[in-house]
Amino acid sequence: MANRVLVGTSEEFPAGELKAVKVEGESIVVARVSSGVCAVKNKCAHLPLPLAGGKLEGDSIVCPWHNSKYEMCSGENQDWVAGLLGIKMPNWSRSLISFGKKPQPLTTYIVIEEDGKVYVEI
Ligand code: FES
Repeated sequence: MANRVLVGTSEEFPAGELKAVKVEGESIVVARVSSGVCAVKNKCAHLPLPLAGGKLEGDSIVCPWHNSKYEMCSGENQDWVAGLLGIKMPNWSRSLISFGKKPQPLTTYIVIEEDGKVYVEI
């Protein structure tokens, strides 16, 4: 059974910002998007590198390493290895940057926002 863990108040998660939190030893990135507060594992699906230094583009998180883009709430991959350190690369370079790995979704977590507090289930 999942544990509901308090990660902060609603004010601590303003729209448009990514915030890394530790929940039971797991690093998680939390962000408020148009549908509410969502959380994903702080590890890219491409390589095991942290996503917290990335950016939000609308309701999506963009990895700071090779620009893969994921829908923040579902974790669905929307663009796979599109660049390098924030710089868009030509399409032919994707097969090199991917290291042969196919697009995959991020691990997501259930988030509950209740009475001005934000909880993650883990
Ligand atoms: S580590 Fe995120 S796209 Fe490569």
